[in-house]
Amino acid sequence: MIISGKELALKLKQEMAGEVKTFPAKYGRVPHLVVILVGEDAGSISYVKGKAKASEEVGIKNTTIRKPETISEEELLQIIADLNADDTVDGILVQLPLPRHINEDRVIEAIDKSKDVDGFHPGNVAALWQKQPCVLPCTPKGIIKMLRTAGVEIEGKNAVVVGRSNIVGLPVAKLLLDANATVTITHSRTKDLGEVTRRAEILVVAIGRPKFVTPDMVSDGTVVIDVGVNRDPETGKLCGDVDFAGIEPKASIITPVPGGVGPMTICCLMENTIECFLRKMEK
Ligand code: GUN
Repeated sequence: MIISGKELALKLKQEMAGEVKTFPAKYGRVPHLVVILVGEDAGSISYVKGKAKASEEVGIKNTTIRKPETISEEELLQIIADLNADDTVDGILVQLPLPRHINEDRVIEAIDKSKDVDGFHPGNVAALWQKQPCVLPCTPKGIIKMLRTAGVEIEGKNAVVVGRSNIVGLPVAKLLLDANATVTITHSRTKDLGEVTRRAEILVVAIGRPKFVTPDMVSDGTVVIDVGVNRDPETGKLCGDVDFAGIEPKASIITPVPGGVGPMTICCLMENTIECFLRKMEK
C-alpha cells in the first residue's frame, strides 16, 4: 500500500480551513506566518512557494520576505527582532540552509520560542526531549500522523531510523520512542547497515542520498517512510532515499517521493502556526 501524504495533507488542510474561518469572529483576525528566504537556491524557493500556497488554502496570512544572499547576519537578526516584537505575527520561519557567512544556530535561537513554528529553537528541542509541552518539528510530526492514519501500530514495534539530523532523524526517533517503539538510530557510517534495517518493522530513512536503501536491506512487510528529496542522477527526476521500484513490492506500506512526507511537513507547519496563534489568543 502506498500512503499518499498529499491526499492526507489535503484533507487536514480542508479541516484547518474550516477552523480558521471561525477565527475573525472569535479573535478579530487570522493567524499570520512570516517566511524569510535568503538567496536564490532553487529547492528553497520551491519549498517557500509551497508554504505560501498551503497558507492560502488554509486561510492563514502569509508574508514571504526575500533577501539577497549578501544580507549580513546582523541585518537578518534585526528583521527577526522586529518580527518577534510584532504582535500581529504568530509564526516566524527562516528557510534553511542559510549562506555560509550566517550562523544558522544564532538565527534559529533569535526567533521567539513562542513563534518558532519549525520547532527548531533550542528551547523547543529541549522541551521535546524533556517531555514538556513544545512545538513539534513539522516533518517528524507529519510522519507520525501518516503512520497513525494508515493504522500502523507503533507501540512495541522495532523502528529503525536512518539519519541523525536535528531536523528529522533525531526528533522522529524521539517521537517513535514516545509512542513506545523500540528505536535504533543509524547513519551512513553504521557498520552492516543492512543487518540493522532488515530487522526494522518500521523503517524511516532521512539520509539525503538517492537509492541509498536497496531492496536487500528491507524485509517483507516493513513499513517504509522515505524522507529523502533528491534528484535521480539518471533521470533528473525527484526521488527519495529508497529504491522505490525495488522496495514497494516488499513493503506493507511505503511513502512515495514526491507526494509522501513533503506535503505532510507543510501541513504540520500550518497546524503549528494555528497552535502558536491560539496559544497567544487564549492566554
Ligand atoms: N529546509 C529544509 N527543511 C526545512 C524545514 O522544515 N524548515 C526550514 N526552516 N528550512 C528547511
